Amino acid sequence: EKDKREASQFDTLRWAAKLFHGTLQSEAGSAALAYLTGKRGLEPGTIRRFGLGFAPESWDHLLHAAERDGAPVEHLVSLGLLTRHPKRNTLYDTFRNRIIFPILTVGGQVAGFGGRTLSNDAETPKYINSPESAFFEKSKLLYGMHAAKNEIRRQETAILVEGYMDVIAMHQAGFTNTVASCGTALTRYQAKILKRYTSRVLFLYDGDNAGKKSMLAGIDILLSEGLTPWVVMLPGNEDPDSFIRNYGKEAFLGELESEKSSFQDFQLRCYQDAGWMESPDTASKAISAMTRSIALIADPVQKELYIDELSKKLDLSRQTLREVMAASDTGGS
Ligand code: CTP
Ligand code: MN
Ligand code: MN
Ligand code: MN
Ligand code: MN
Repeated sequence: EKDKREASQFDTLRWAAKLFHGTLQSEAGSAALAYLTGKRGLEPGTIRRFGLGFAPESWDHLLHAAERDGAPVEHLVSLGLLTRHPKRNTLYDTFRNRIIFPILTVGGQVAGFGGRTLSNDAETPKYINSPESAFFEKSKLLYGMHAAKNEIRRQETAILVEGYMDVIAMHQAGFTNTVASCGTALTRYQAKILKRYTSRVLFLYDGDNAGKKSMLAGIDILLSEGLTPWVVMLPGNEDPDSFIRNYGKEAFLGELESEKSSFQDFQLRCYQDAGWMESPDTASKAISAMTRSIALIADPVQKELYIDELSKKLDLSRQTLREVMAASDTGGS
């Protein structure tokens, strides 16, 4: 006779999260815990709050634990926590020698995991995530949203960072309205989730070129969902986590104040830095792109005010900018 109440996949995910979290606190997790508290500067309360865990360097740690606790192995396979060896037809742990970041739904259910390797081997990918499934759709999840949603609403702003460690470091430093897009480019779906809590989003991506590119793309996504993006550009080799660790909270606050710019100033600066504003042909492309962004804004007053701003910044007439905007508007977005 079967159990009256069959474990759901969400129960199995929660079981796995507990197992990983317990392992981090155990003998097997001592090096991982030392890494998090030492090198990454995490406090025990932070590790608990985010339910961080560890998957040891073993092919069958999860498998044995599942047999011991009666956790359904078929769930672990469909959730991608166990992988089937294609030739030998045996099962092995997907996450090995990795710090585990449980990724929760807005409502607080475990949906999947991110895992950061502890190895320095160049062949090993730094991060892996649960494979896509009905339970884990990366493009529809924001890491940290469950912990951040109330503060986002209260402060009327969401801070958007790139990585798991950035979210955790920001929360530990008191910026508890911070979430991450799980390493993907920001999606419309994620913007819609944010829109339920606020209409202002502060981009705080890594200071490298990849980070800048992602912010440029994210700006248009947010605008088309009716959100107002702001941007803070960090120095080229820093992300929020490293900046706070290297320079401290006070310096970070100063950076937020002095580097915060409107999305339009950020765009213009990117095009200036790339040398596009120096000759008419490339400047024209840059201006088209900027007016395209303005065209995404639904509110006619805001639209007009951004045109007005841009006209002052570029010393071009509003009429010209409106013409550019009309010409570049593909008609319906
Ligand atoms: N990411 C990923 N897969 C990778 C690299 C990154 O999914 N191969 C995602 C992770 O969510 C990661 C985020 O993108 O947190 C940002 O990547 P990166 O800046 O490279 O990582 P950090 O989080 O800064 O890594 P670290 O632990 O070294 O601070
Ligand atoms: Mn990065
Ligand atoms: Mn980092
Ligand atoms: Mn980073
Ligand atoms: Mn004016």
